[in-house]
Amino acid sequence: MAAQPPLIYPFDDAAIAEAAAIIEAGGIVAVPTETVYGLAADARDARAVAGIYAAKGRPSFNPLIVHVADLAAAEAIATFDDDARVLAEQFWPGPLTLVLPLRADAGIASLVTAGLDTIALRVPAHRAMQALIAATGAALAAPSANASNGISPTRAEHVAVSLGVRVPLIIDDGATKAGVESTIVAGRTILRPGPVTTEMLGAVLPVAPGTTAHVSAPGQLATHYAPSKPLRLNAIRAEADEWLIGFGAVAGDDTLSAHGDLVEAAARLFDALHRADTSPPERIAVAPVPEHGVGVAINDRLRRAAHR
Ligand code: TXA
Ligand code: MG
Repeated sequence: MAAQPPLIYPFDDAAIAEAAAIIEAGGIVAVPTETVYGLAADARDARAVAGIYAAKGRPSFNPLIVHVADLAAAEAIATFDDDARVLAEQFWPGPLTLVLPLRADAGIASLVTAGLDTIALRVPAHRAMQALIAATGAALAAPSANASNGISPTRAEHVAVSLGVRVPLIIDDGATKAGVESTIVAGRTILRPGPVTTEMLGAVLPVAPGTTAHVSAPGQLATHYAPSKPLRLNAIRAEADEWLIGFGAVAGDDTLSAHGDLVEAAARLFDALHRADTSPPERIAVAPVPEHGVGVAINDRLRRAAHR
C-alpha cells in the first residue's frame, strides 16, 4: 500500500481517541504541546520508539523527552531529590524538562534514554498532549515533530511539510504558545535555555547555565534547528538577497515582535524561520534580540540555526 499523506484532525475527543488507538497499536502521532509539536509514541514500547527515530531520521544515540500526566507519574519513572521536587512543584505542568536518575523498574524502553541511566521528563501544560497521555495511560516519548536537524514545528502545517508520509496523524490545535522547546535542567544546571527562564528558575533554586558535553544531545548539536538557507545574526538592515526577520525597532520583511516583546518573539520564532526559508531571497538575516528572559533561548536557537 502506498504511504498516505498525514491526516490532520482538529483537536477534539474523536481526534484524541484516534491518536490513542494509533499509539496503543505501536504507532506514532504528532501532537501539540505548549512549546512545539511533538512526535509521540509509547515510551515503554521499543518498536514504537524506534518508529520515532526512523520518522525523524534522528541518530539513535540521542535521547528523547518523556511526557507524563503529573508528578506522581514522573516519580514512578525517576528518582527526585529535593531540588527536583521544588522545580517540579513550581513549574509543572509547563515547559520545564528535568533530567533525573532513571528508576530500574520504570519500564521505559532503553532506546528512549539511548542507554543513559538518566531520563528527561516533563509534565506538559497543553490540553492535547494531556488528553493523549490520559487516553493512552502511557508515558509518551516525544521529540519535536520535525525531521532531524530541521526547524522545530509550531504549527500542524510545519509537521506535515517536514515529516509528510512518515507521520499518519497530526492533531492540530493551532500555533503553539511558547514557541521554543522546553527548558532542560539537570541538577542545578540549565542544559538548554527555554521558556522557563534563568530568572524564573533562579527565584526558586540557584541554577547556572551548563553544557551537555557529557551527553549526546541533538538539541545541543551546533547545526540543530537549521533552515536550508544561510542565516546572518544581529542584522540592522537587509543586504541584497536577504529576507530580514525584524525585532523591535528593526522592521524587516517579517518581525518577531514589532514592539519588542520577547515572549511574543519566542512564540513566533520558528514560524518566522519557516517563512524565511520558503521566501524568495536566498539568504536570511535576523535582527538583534536582547539576551535576557526568554531572549536567551531565542538567541540559543538562532545561533544554532546560523551555524553551518
Ligand atoms: O519542548 C520540548 O521539550 C519538546 C516538546 C515536544 O516536548 N521536545 C523536544 O524534544 O524538544 P527533543 O527530542 O527535540 O529534545 C530533547 C532534548 C535533546 O537535546 C536531548 O538530548 C535532551 O533533551 N535529553 C534527553 N534525554 C536526556 C538525558 N538523559 N540527559 C541529557 N539530555 C537529555
Ligand atoms: Mg528537536
